[in-house]
Parts: sequence; C-alpha cells; structure tokens
Amino acid sequence: MDAKTGHNVKSGKLVVGDKNWSFPIYEGTIGPDVIDISKLYAESGMFTYDPGFTSTGSCESKITYIDGDKGILLYRGVPIEQLAEHGDFLETCYLLLYGELPTSTQKSDFDYRVTRHTMVHEQMSRFFQGFRRDAHPMAVMTGCVGALSAFYHDSTDISDPHQRMVASIRMIAKMPTLAAMAYKYNIGQPFVYPKNELDYSTNFLRMCFAVPCEEFKANPVLARAMDRIFILHADHEQNASTSTVRLAGSTGANPFACIAAGIAALWGPAHGGANEAALKMLGEIGKPERIPEFIKRAKDKNDSFRLMGFGHRVYKNYDPRAKIMQKTCHEVLSELGHRDDPLLQVALELERVALHDEYFLEKKLYPNIDFYSGITLKAMGVPTNMFTVLFTLARTVGWIAQWKEMIEDPNQKIGRPRQLYTGEVRRDYIPISRRK
Ligand code: CMC
Repeated sequence: MDAKTGHNVKSGKLVVGDKNWSFPIYEGTIGPDVIDISKLYAESGMFTYDPGFTSTGSCESKITYIDGDKGILLYRGVPIEQLAEHGDFLETCYLLLYGELPTSTQKSDFDYRVTRHTMVHEQMSRFFQGFRRDAHPMAVMTGCVGALSAFYHDSTDISDPHQRMVASIRMIAKMPTLAAMAYKYNIGQPFVYPKNELDYSTNFLRMCFAVPCEEFKANPVLARAMDRIFILHADHEQNASTSTVRLAGSTGANPFACIAAGIAALWGPAHGGANEAALKMLGEIGKPERIPEFIKRAKDKNDSFRLMGFGHRVYKNYDPRAKIMQKTCHEVLSELGHRDDPLLQVALELERVALHDEYFLEKKLYPNIDFYSGITLKAMGVPTNMFTVLFTLARTVGWIAQWKEMIEDPNQKIGRPRQLYTGEVRRDYIPISRRK
C-alpha cells in the first residue's frame, strides 16, 4: 500500500532495447488496473502516445463505473436500473455529488436548496434577445451558461468549498430554466417562470410547454419519463465533454465557464447529437420492409452509412441505458396513444434483425441509449434541435460532480498533454522579399 496515494501497489516493467524502467500498478475497487507512467518522461525521455485516449486513464474517480463488456453502469456503486426504477433525478444528483443516497431529511433539504435557485437573474433574459431567433439552442446554451459567471460572482471562488457547492446547486437548478428559455425564444413564445411547488421534471415540462393563455396540466407519465431520461444521462465517467470540463477546471477556471466548455464539447454529433441522427435514420427507413436494404448498407465497407444508435466506444454489450430507454419509450407511446407509431415499429424490427445478424454480433454492436431516446422525445413534443439541450441539462450534475472531485483532489495538477511532433525541424526566418 502506497502511504501517499492509498493505492494497492504492484509494479510492472517497461523494456526498450537494453534499458528498462519499473512503474507502479494500481488496483481500483473494480475494473482494470492502471500503470502509473507519470514518471516515464523524467526517467526515460519518452512520452506515451494514445490519440483518442483509448488506453489512458486521465484521473482517479469514485463517481461512475462502466463495465462495457458486461453492460454495467453504476453511479457511486448503485446500478442505473435501480436508480431509474426507484429513484428520482434530484436523488441521483445528491448521490453523484455527495457519494451517498440521501436520507429523507437530506433529500427534502436538497430539493429545497435546488428549487430556491431555479430563477435566473432577470437581466439574463436580455441576453436571449441578442441571439437570432433561428439560432441553434445549443449555441444559446453555450453562451448563456458561460455568461452565468458574469452574474454570480459570489460563487466563483473555487478555493471556497461553500462557494463551490452554491455554484453546483445553482447550475443544477438553473439549467432547466435556461434550457426552456432557449426553446421558448426559438419558437417566439414568452418565457415561463419556474414554479417551485412542482417537482424538477414537471417544472421543466411546464416551462417548455405552458403558455400564458392556458392552464398547464402536467401528465405524470411524461414527467416520470423525462425524469428517467435525466437519470440515464446524468453521468458517464470520463467521456469527451466530462474530460473537457475537467481539463478547463484544472486551470482554475470558474465552474460556470467549465460547464460552458463541456456544453460546447457535447454539441458534436459523435457525442450528444446521435439521438437526433438515429431518429432521422428511422424516418428515412420509414417501414420495416426497407430494413434489409439499410442493414446491407451498414455492412458495406464502401458505404459510409452506419446504423445510428448502434455501437459504443465502451459498451461491447447491450447499453444498460438503452434497455430502460426502450421500456420508457413504450410507456410514453402507449400513454399518448402512439403505440402504432411507425418509427417504433421500424426501431423494434431493426433491433431484432441487427441482433441476429453475424456482422453486428461479431463486432459487438448493440443498441445504445440514443436508439430509443429520439422516438420518445419526439412523441413527447420535444423538437429535435432540443434533444442535445436535454442531454446538457441532465449531464450538468455529472460534470459538476467530476469538476468538484478534481478540485478537491490534493494531487490535482493542470492538465497538459504532450505530443509526437512531426513538423519542420529548426529553420531560419527568411525576409518576405527573399521568399519564393
Ligand atoms: N453501424 C455499422 N457498423 C458499425 C457501427 C454502426 N453503428 N458502429 C461501428 N461499426 C463498425 C465499424 O465500421 C468498424 O468496423 P471495422 O472494424 O470493420 O472497420 C467497427 O464496427 C468498429 O467501429 P469503430 O468506429 O472503430 O468503433 P468506435 O468505438 O470508434 O465507435 C461509435 C463507436 C459510437 C462512434 C460507433 O459505434 C458509431 O459511429 N455508432 C453510430 C453513432 C452513435 O449511435 N453514437 C452514439 C454513441 S452513445 C452516446 C454517448 O454515450 O455519448
């Protein structure tokens, strides 16, 4: 046991030619061991090279664990299936932030603290007016969340644990308000203020879908489905946007700025935008009879087409979130009387065909969370350009928990990767008159 780090230590040897170096190997509580190569450069003069970080552990974390081969996802040790079935989103937020499920007193205190922060500074609404109406809501979110640091100066001192927690609660509380404002601005409707007597997800649905001229009636099945979607997206260990938040945070940047950086990273179609693409693909397929044609294209090396909502960098088994999402999708469609939705029929048949196809089995390509989330959100009346915004809202707690964990780690350093340089070697400046 290493006294400084508290890790169980073994050691491994790297041999290059006639030289060799020994490095410590740490065991986690579950999952693969890691080789600590932080002294590699100092001792050998070499860097490691791992574009895409497919073999690199960037940090130590106690928050989320994924076993991609077995299809397991745990938040603080608790299986995602159990949280989605029995928990609610704010309970999940508490678990991710504090490491334990709350007692009932802790839960009501936490809910109270979050609901007390749901309003945004009134001046924020003028920010929205500065955007074009047809701006993508993710562009608006990136700008507005970054702007929060200009409004809440009393929670930007990252060295103060109290301010860190206030900033965390503020972001969890204000994200639904900002997301709904981005939507309302986009469609030209007035902003709807939060109503704190409502639960988190019902409040969000009301801020999105209520209008001043009508009474809003919440549908508990849809509110529960939305809550579950938030739980499923709350954290996913060191993915691209979370790593972005950690890297930005490692410089000492304030938490609002770090989360804005995470939103920008999430916007990309390879990350947060895949459910939109999956929905579009199901629409293009249109009817079950056309599935073989698309399966053939997905398998064709000369065709760039891929089955959207299938495959995952980490899951080489059924994405556990996809199973829950499929069930939620059925619940929502039957509640809304859309059980015969042609998109659902296509999705179910496509899944069945792919899961019996040698190509998909051999490459371990299973449905991921995005396969069913698009159909569900569409049925709930959420426009496609808002899908990634909902992901942002839900992932905020994961980003914050990971950012806090990093700031509170005594061994934390600024993130500064190195490179394999393949550019020009040293050469002299040539005055412009002598350049050819
Ligand atoms: N359809 C057809 N073939 C596929 C697919 C697919 N959806 N995904 C991977 N493959 C094939 C790929 O062609 C490659 O074949 P080969 O070895 O013959 O060259 C092999 O499977 C491995 O693919 P890869 O691109 O090297 O795997 P990756 O781990 O880099 O990519 C992925 C993972 C998610 C980007 C990819 O599976 C994909 O593009 N899926 C569709 C997009 C999608 O649904 N994305 C959402 C991911 S879940 C959201 C989240 O958690 O953030």
